[in-house]
Amino acid sequence: MSDKGMTIHLKIWRQARGAKTGKFVDYTVQNIQPAMSFLEMLDILNEDLVKKGEEAVEFDSDCREGICGTCGLVIKGTAHGPHAATTTCEVRMRGFKDGETITVEPFRAGPFPVIKDLVVDRTAFDRIQQQGGYVSANVGSAPDGNAVPVSKYYADKAMDVASCIGCGACVAACPNASASLFVSAKISQLSRLPQGGLERGRRALAMVAQMDQEGFGDCSNHGECEAVCPKEISIENIALMRREYMRGALKGD
Ligand code: FES
Repeated sequence: MSDKGMTIHLKIWRQARGAKTGKFVDYTVQNIQPAMSFLEMLDILNEDLVKKGEEAVEFDSDCREGICGTCGLVIKGTAHGPHAATTTCEVRMRGFKDGETITVEPFRAGPFPVIKDLVVDRTAFDRIQQQGGYVSANVGSAPDGNAVPVSKYYADKAMDVASCIGCGACVAACPNASASLFVSAKISQLSRLPQGGLERGRRALAMVAQMDQEGFGDCSNHGECEAVCPKEISIENIALMRREYMRGALKGD
């Protein structure tokens, strides 16, 4: 590495808005510092492209600190890159070698159509959430915080899955493009809390039906979703989702 930083070669998927397909285009960026984030490296690439009068590479990001789930790239063939429990925006360039060639692609799945370059449409997740990812609450003043007791065991379990940021890496990594990990996290979070009891009978039925309607595949236990999940959501939640589905289908409440 020179005093000025690393040189990185990139193969980036470029796809025009409205186009059915695209292609990899080669770029080289220089003076990349190891402490930079992957997205900052792409920012530098885009500054270079704009200076040259070329079109910048489009990619999604918002918080850039692993909270919002907006970012999501397939880096070197892995959703969110080669580092475990890390979102794309948290990937640091120190994890790559000077002179390395890195492929960068969008999350690929039928229900996540490419909008442009590395940006995909993930509104399918919103439509699934609208089918049951909520709880009913009486209007009026806010209830006391301790009005509904929740045991520590279930509070911890619910918090574990509440960390799902809906990034879609689970779908991108799954050979079936299944959204089961995402959907199960949302069902698991609400079914474990008394506040989620009112919709329990219909929640799993409605969310799974919407998942099917959006074109996501079913789970066949590959486990790739769990491996790439930046929040380390366990696939044991998919078993719980199936139990909730059967409970809803048999009991109806
Ligand atoms: S930009 Fe928010 S999680 Fe990456």
